[in-house]
Amino acid sequence: MESVDVHLAERSYSILINSDSLASLGQELSHLNFPKRVAVISNPTVDNLYGSMTCTSLETSGFIPTQFNIPDGENYKSITTLESIYDFLIENEFDRGCGLIALGGGVIGDIAGFAAATFLRGIPYVQVPTTLLAQVDSSVGGKTAINHPLGKNLIGAFYQPEMVFIDITTLNTLEPRDLSAGMAEVIKYGVICDSNFFCWLEDNIENLKNRKPESIVYAIRRSCQLKGEIVARDEREGSVRAFLNYGHTFGHAIEKLSGYGQFKHGEAVAIGMVVAAKIAAGQGFCLPQEVQRLSDLLSAFDLPIDPPDFSLEEYVVAMQRDKKVKQGHLTMVLNRGIGECFLHQVDDISAVFSPFVKHL
Ligand code: NAD
Ligand code: GLY
Repeated sequence: MESVDVHLAERSYSILINSDSLASLGQELSHLNFPKRVAVISNPTVDNLYGSMTCTSLETSGFIPTQFNIPDGENYKSITTLESIYDFLIENEFDRGCGLIALGGGVIGDIAGFAAATFLRGIPYVQVPTTLLAQVDSSVGGKTAINHPLGKNLIGAFYQPEMVFIDITTLNTLEPRDLSAGMAEVIKYGVICDSNFFCWLEDNIENLKNRKPESIVYAIRRSCQLKGEIVARDEREGSVRAFLNYGHTFGHAIEKLSGYGQFKHGEAVAIGMVVAAKIAAGQGFCLPQEVQRLSDLLSAFDLPIDPPDFSLEEYVVAMQRDKKVKQGHLTMVLNRGIGECFLHQVDDISAVFSPFVKHL
């Protein structure tokens, strides 16, 4: 069992990383003194694969799980779905002595986490991430949210889980496209803060694509360490946590413009990272060869790198609704070479992004 701790004073927790471990979830929860009555929030895809193993493990350790599935897909990370979770919790008489388990990818983790943050002003919850993206990023750090038709993740809360429980064996059933989407966030860590990790990824492409357990565990552990350190320094994104948004402003615009679903989050972030790197190169902060290295690594994982054909105006309007825009100014994350980044204020969004989108 590997473990990474997120140090946040009384909100500290562990990220447990293991293989073939889902059957021991109940046992781990017992050590936490987690509430006995738990709502397990998932979707039909994940439930069919892992719902019964999860509930059996919980029951064996004396927990009383009740399951609720929401439909599968980014489109359902919505206020309507959130209401259905509240309805389920209220109709089943969940109270403040109960807990919640988010079993699934980033969509489940974000919406179930937000339900836990807000139901009865907050009940304890645990993340059991089952996609690579959720295991390396979304389950860690306590950002919970739903989308609004006008923008991504616009309604949410910072609310830390009691534990993140990762069973890498769940990745064996993941579609290759979802594995790649997770790799985009893994690569992000290399670009923004760890050049050695970036080199290691370049050297381990085939091992990771073939889901070699040792390589997968290392990629997850390193990603969780890097994210955990950043979150411990800046839980509520007053400073360095914003680095984690590298590639996300443009990425979120792609997700929104394409109607949430056509592009996976990681795919949109991959395109956004290449655009950010090109902007950084244009301003002399990184070399064209470094942009190429990033593009090559993303492409090696079959990730898209070219912006889809929306007009500059559409991109600008979408980006202006981003959380990172304050009083019309966008704070962008730019990379300095590979392994370092900084925040850069953009006053004229249109001028900065114009060279990188097609003029329709
Ligand atoms: P997802 O949750 O939609 O999962 C992708 C697909 O994989 C879904 O169809 C899901 O049902 C399926 N799936 C999940 N586990 C599986 C398994 N083990 N085997 C087979 N199929 C499985 O997408 P995602 O990429 O995990 O997450 C994307 C979401 O995460 C976005 O909404 C994004 O905004 C959010 N996010 C949040 C944070 C954060 O800090 N909170 C960070 C990054 C991304
Ligand atoms: N995924 C960005 C963050 O957690 O801050």
